[in-house]
Amino acid sequence: MSLNNLKYCQPEFYKFSEDSLFLANESSKLIKDSFPKGFSIKGLDLCSGCGVVGIETMRQLEDVSFFHFLELQSLFKDFFQKNALFFLDNDQRSKVEFYNSDFDSFLPNPNIKYNLITSNPPYFKRENNRLGLDERRNLCRFFTGTGFTNFLNFIYGSLDKLGVALFLGRGSEIEGEIEIFLKKTPNDFEIIKHKSIGLTSLFMGRFLDK
Ligand SMILES: C[S@@+](CC[C@H](N)C(=O)[O-])C[C@H]1O[C@@H](n2cnc3c(N)ncnc32)[C@H](O)[C@@H]1O
Repeated sequence: MSLNNLKYCQPEFYKFSEDSLFLANESSKLIKDSFPKGFSIKGLDLCSGCGVVGIETMRQLEDVSFFHFLELQSLFKDFFQKNALFFLDNDQRSKVEFYNSDFDSFLPNPNIKYNLITSNPPYFKRENNRLGLDERRNLCRFFTGTGFTNFLNFIYGSLDKLGVALFLGRGSEIEGEIEIFLKKTPNDFEIIKHKSIGLTSLFMGRFLDK
């Protein structure tokens, strides 16, 4: 599906790009290739915005147990709900939930571990880049009051041992932090660069001891 054919509801200050569709397509392809048929997805779209990544991933998967959408900015909720109504059928809609929260303070049911985490998070560091005038857009581009290491910690703590996390990033902005993060984990987790599209790369994180 191309960008122009997808009529997602989105705010004026932030429109998704081909990166989001690339992530959704790769996530569903990887799930189909790596997991047995009938493996039921417990999904999370982390930093979900209007929901395009999770919704487009769900549309390509047959067996979804539930899909959660976690987003800091409450104004995205209306956009998400309109998109879920338009792009998902009744059964799929009964499996989605939008959570308006910062991932640092998100406390899902402690028994829930996700076996698919997809994320198109803010790519840039505030300290290295010039901020724009619209703070809502800045929140889409830069982590604020948190950071990429906390993002990795959240994934590590919420991912099922059999699951996979797929996230986008600009290599030069995050590779150093990935290396430091991995050195601090007890050698039970790997993060590899799976593919690149232009300046953006798709990273895959998963547990080694299953
Ligand atoms: C690059 S945008 C991507 C949005 C959407 N995933 C897409 O592909 O269009 C990053 C999103 O992360 C959200 N975000 C930023 N910091 C966050 C945090 N600490 N917790 C949850 N969401 C956050 C922003 O509000 C924004 O919607």
